[in-house]
Amino acid sequence: MVVRNSNETSTRKVQLLDIDDIPEGKAKRVEIEGLRIAVTRINEDIYAVGDMCTHANYALSDGPIDTEELTIECWKHGAQFCLKTGEAISLPATRPITAYQLETTQTSLFIHLPEKGSA
Ligand code: FES
Repeated sequence: MVVRNSNETSTRKVQLLDIDDIPEGKAKRVEIEGLRIAVTRINEDIYAVGDMCTHANYALSDGPIDTEELTIECWKHGAQFCLKTGEAISLPATRPITAYQLETTQTSLFIHLPEKGSA
């Protein structure tokens, strides 16, 4: 299935995890097609973002999740990223991480990945 998002980028829907395997309030690292993705559940909402800090490429999934502010924090130097948008909201990181579009069924989480060959 090919979906176009608001940026007109073509994406593919790929099964990522069973819903029951997504931890509540902490991040799980998942690797798929060479991408590292941090996945978490906060109450009934699920978030998936790029797992590499844009400051110095440390794994964000090793850092804490703020379930009130909906952020993930880099354990190395403390940069925080919005789980909804991927925006870097505190220094020293200034560039965003990818916030992935998701879909769920009762049992599975699907993620929209860029079409191979697109940005
Ligand atoms: S490596 Fe993440 S804030 Fe420096």
